[in-house]
Amino acid sequence: MFKTIAIGCDHAAVEYKDKLSAILKEQGYNVLNMGTDSTESCDYPIYANKVCDKVVSKEADCGILICGTGIGMSMAANKRKGIRAAVCGDLKSSEFTRLHNNANVLCMGARIIPFELCEQITKKFLETEFMGGKHKVRIDMFEPAE
Ligand code: RB5
Repeated sequence: MFKTIAIGCDHAAVEYKDKLSAILKEQGYNVLNMGTDSTESCDYPIYANKVCDKVVSKEADCGILICGTGIGMSMAANKRKGIRAAVCGDLKSSEFTRLHNNANVLCMGARIIPFELCEQITKKFLETEFMGGKHKVRIDMFEPAE
């Protein structure tokens, strides 16, 4: 199960990132804040990479990335080896990207979904276990063994 979460955002989602971090800390998670902490316009791939660094190095069990839509963050994160990032805007996607895809980075859009849904999607993501089996075979096809 996930214990340590690296979280990051761009200028469009600082409030969501901070509110979500506070809730997760209250729930007992260890939360690593990778920024940004400013609402000044910035480049979201910087923060996607900071969060992915923590996941790839296993300093974090998973990552959460929030930008305006969640899309740019997911594109940047999915360029990284070992990262399976999923943009979620509903609970079913959040559940199934854990069950079937073993997603290790959750991306959301602060300009797309209300904060309450962002919180629920995160809870579902963090509490759902990967099914493994045939789904492990499939996700292993993303990155051929070296
Ligand atoms: C920033 O304006 C916006 O482009 C960014 O937050 C994100 O939505 C990119 O995908």
